[in-house]
Amino acid sequence: MKPKVLITRRVPQIGIDMVAAHCDIELWDSDLPIPRATLLEKVADKDAIYCLLTERIDDELLDAAPNLKVVSQMAVGFDNIDVAACTRRGIPVGNTPGVLTETTADFTWALLMSAARRIVEGVEYVRAGQWVTWGPLLLMGPDLYGATLGIVGMGRIGQAVARRAMGFGMRILYTDAQPIPGVAEEFGAHYVELDQLLAESDFVTLHTNLTPQTYHMIDAAALQAMKPTAILINAARGGVVDHDALVEALRTGQIAYAALDVTEPEPLPADHPLVHLPNCIVVPHIASASIATRTKMATMAAENLLAGVRGEPLPNRVNP
Ligand code: GLV
Repeated sequence: MKPKVLITRRVPQIGIDMVAAHCDIELWDSDLPIPRATLLEKVADKDAIYCLLTERIDDELLDAAPNLKVVSQMAVGFDNIDVAACTRRGIPVGNTPGVLTETTADFTWALLMSAARRIVEGVEYVRAGQWVTWGPLLLMGPDLYGATLGIVGMGRIGQAVARRAMGFGMRILYTDAQPIPGVAEEFGAHYVELDQLLAESDFVTLHTNLTPQTYHMIDAAALQAMKPTAILINAARGGVVDHDALVEALRTGQIAYAALDVTEPEPLPADHPLVHLPNCIVVPHIASASIATRTKMATMAAENLLAGVRGEPLPNRVNP
């Protein structure tokens, strides 16, 4: 009998086809997340789940899925998964690291430049018919060249962002749990404590996992420590930033601007202040959304899943 697999959303077709070639699939054939109750019902007879960061994989779900042999997530981040709970039950968890590094770094750069050079405000200005002349004072912003970039979390994506910053002639600071060997030599990036990074950076960009340690790492005190001209970029996870504190900091000019690919919660309600502040850009968690990268993520998730149902080691496994 073929293994039974639940795929929790429409994903790039190649991922579905790869799994369907070897398994009986049930696809939640929608662009919207599967409702929790339906998810719990549908995993009851499944050997594997191909899931997204919108599904909470916890003890409740694992209890509802007694046959589960593998959890394969089409994302690099896995803060939605209780990995320890999976490990306790001997269930391997797969993710999709590496393939989205450059794409996410590109998008981080797009956010950084959009905020610095006020692209969104410019578009809105033209659309509103306000463009009447070339303005010597119109929509000015800071230069990147010569500015200081502070990278919080110098993993794969943080390093790819650092590589881009070198081309823009920026001074690079970073912080992480400890200094990362080689990055000083490769990117000219200086390791500092978070306090110093916040105080000295013109741009602060977040690339850390969301963990209990990083939850609300950027809180009121952290925002207070930043320059009033600073721009904050978040393409990591919304929970790293205290959004109430961020609203306050943007309103009162504690910092100049924020550009967010990720929010807490997701989606951010359309009437949330961050959506409407003129000095904030919010986009719907699309940093990895290049066609090629989403295709690779879908195939990697399929490879992890197929290895899991065969009892083979996952090519990319999160738990030990
Ligand atoms: C996207 O946010 C991912 O973790 O892949």
